[in-house]
Amino acid sequence: MCGIVGYIGKNNAVDAIVDGLHRLEYRGYDSAGISIVKDKKIVTYKDKGRVVHLSEIIPDNNESNIGIGHTRWATHGKPLKKNAHPHSDCSGKISIVHNGIIENYLKLKKKLIKEGHKFRSDTDTEIIAHLIEKFYVDEIKLEQAVKMALDKIVGTYGLAVISSREPEKIVAVRNSSPLIIGVGDNENFIASDATAVVKYTKKIIYLEDEEIAVVKSDEIKIYNKKNIKVNKKIMSLKWGEEHISKNGFSHFMLKEISEEARSYANTLAGHIDYEEGSTHLGGMVNLFPGNSIHSIKRIIIIGCGTSWHSGLLGEYYLERFTEIPTEVEYASEFRYRSPVVDQDTFVIAISQSGETADTIAAIKEAKERGAKVFGIVNVVGSTISREVDQGLYIHVGPEIGVASTKAFLSQTLALFLIALNIGRKKHISLKAGLEYIRELEEMPKKIQMVLDSSKKSMKNLAMEYSKSKNFLYLGRGVHFPIALEGALKLKEISYIHAEGYPAGEMKHGPLALIDGKFPTFFVAPNDSIFEKSLSNIQEIKARNGKIILLTNKENRIPKNIVDSIIIIPETLPEFYPFLEIIPLQLFAYYLAVIKGCDVDKPRNLAKSVTVE
Ligand code: AGP
Repeated sequence: MCGIVGYIGKNNAVDAIVDGLHRLEYRGYDSAGISIVKDKKIVTYKDKGRVVHLSEIIPDNNESNIGIGHTRWATHGKPLKKNAHPHSDCSGKISIVHNGIIENYLKLKKKLIKEGHKFRSDTDTEIIAHLIEKFYVDEIKLEQAVKMALDKIVGTYGLAVISSREPEKIVAVRNSSPLIIGVGDNENFIASDATAVVKYTKKIIYLEDEEIAVVKSDEIKIYNKKNIKVNKKIMSLKWGEEHISKNGFSHFMLKEISEEARSYANTLAGHIDYEEGSTHLGGMVNLFPGNSIHSIKRIIIIGCGTSWHSGLLGEYYLERFTEIPTEVEYASEFRYRSPVVDQDTFVIAISQSGETADTIAAIKEAKERGAKVFGIVNVVGSTISREVDQGLYIHVGPEIGVASTKAFLSQTLALFLIALNIGRKKHISLKAGLEYIRELEEMPKKIQMVLDSSKKSMKNLAMEYSKSKNFLYLGRGVHFPIALEGALKLKEISYIHAEGYPAGEMKHGPLALIDGKFPTFFVAPNDSIFEKSLSNIQEIKARNGKIILLTNKENRIPKNIVDSIIIIPETLPEFYPFLEIIPLQLFAYYLAVIKGCDVDKPRNLAKSVTVE
């Protein structure tokens, strides 16, 4: 989950690299560093702390036309100056930045120490620099030495390497950790993702696993693992710099929540089939040509964190609409549990970043066992978007805040579109299908209504509960995943302990937690199970528990049994999650702001978990 930026070209490398590191900080931010080649020597500046601190330690006379930089999310070795990247070899003639994990680094480190190499850090990464040094002799070119070094390594990497011996090139290699090349005019860029370079170029080359790139200011050569030169397509980004700036919002998270009506509409666009009362999903047609959709015996949804929560809603939709047994698996569990999967299993992989290591591994596991895999992904060209058999992009634009918000809404929508698509081929009637479509199209307006009405009220509520140390989130049916997601939002950005629970489970244990200091967020619109939720509310009230009720009808609540009520518009029972999650996202946001937390870059976390 680190961020890598490299620059070679006509302008000053330091400016482009530091600017790019700022834009990648959401990938990891406990330390940062940069190496440039100056006066035929490699010069490195690095320290623990944020990129803004790095800028302060770089002296003014830093002109260079080549360099590499890095923002770190610590895996091996504490966030200390000595462990910050870049790392160099003994001679100081090589400098590298790395994103990933080297699994056999200890064995290699011991061997290199025996051969006389001196190590300065506790990281796994540093062994790569010394291995390259070992092979970088005589006429061997940098890219050859890098290849020879990597042949000894077991692990994952996105890697960028420079040397003072060949200051006209950056060598970049990808194996499981994402790397792109930004193609400029007499300048080229390397980065973990396109947000770092979109200010300079929208022309992007996505490196595939085991590809090695030799990047000069006016030439890019890419080789596959057999050392054969490959011609890669230059893609053109469909979004620009305005998508990765705050545009006046105090945090990316608030901006991205505020975009949810539009991002939902972007996900829906082009997928409505008015004639059939269904949805157009090209990926589903390609995956299940003709009537082969009826061959599906089982559906497994895989994802992590917030994506896993959206998967729970997908399970509800798919079982209800298709009557196909559906289960949701944590990707990190699925991959190690020898799952029962075969050619009649339909696997749906959900990932905003498209780079989550556990989800990538789970997809590979499912494919090896014969399953058809469909991806729901946001980042175009990401690893998962290329790993799955078919899929759909949710097109919500870059999501920079570490806490996923607009992507969750659109992932849930995408799962509904798949459920309706299959359901209409099974037992969902045209009439029902058309009713769902009409309400899907109404949703952006209702999402905007909730956004407009909730900001002030959730800010006040956050103030009222700002001293709380714990929170319980409860919901039944489709509201239970919302309870889980609301709890995750609170804990990951405000560091307040919060648990999501099925409301019916309260009396089987968690009720023991309830007292006047342990408030409960209850997600319970006026649907078929509302009466059940009402009795849970009474149980909590009887123990002096404070209750914040999120519902759609105020008149159903007996007076004085809840402490606060949040009202959302009416909609179809399946669609309440689209509206319920917004106040919970805002509540977590405002509470984190009140507590002075770093909302967009919460401690210990990173946006894209590219390590296991
Ligand atoms: C969500 O707020 C978290 N940042 C995290 O749980 C995230 O959802 C998870 O890491 C999965 O990421 P992905 O969707 O990019 O695969």
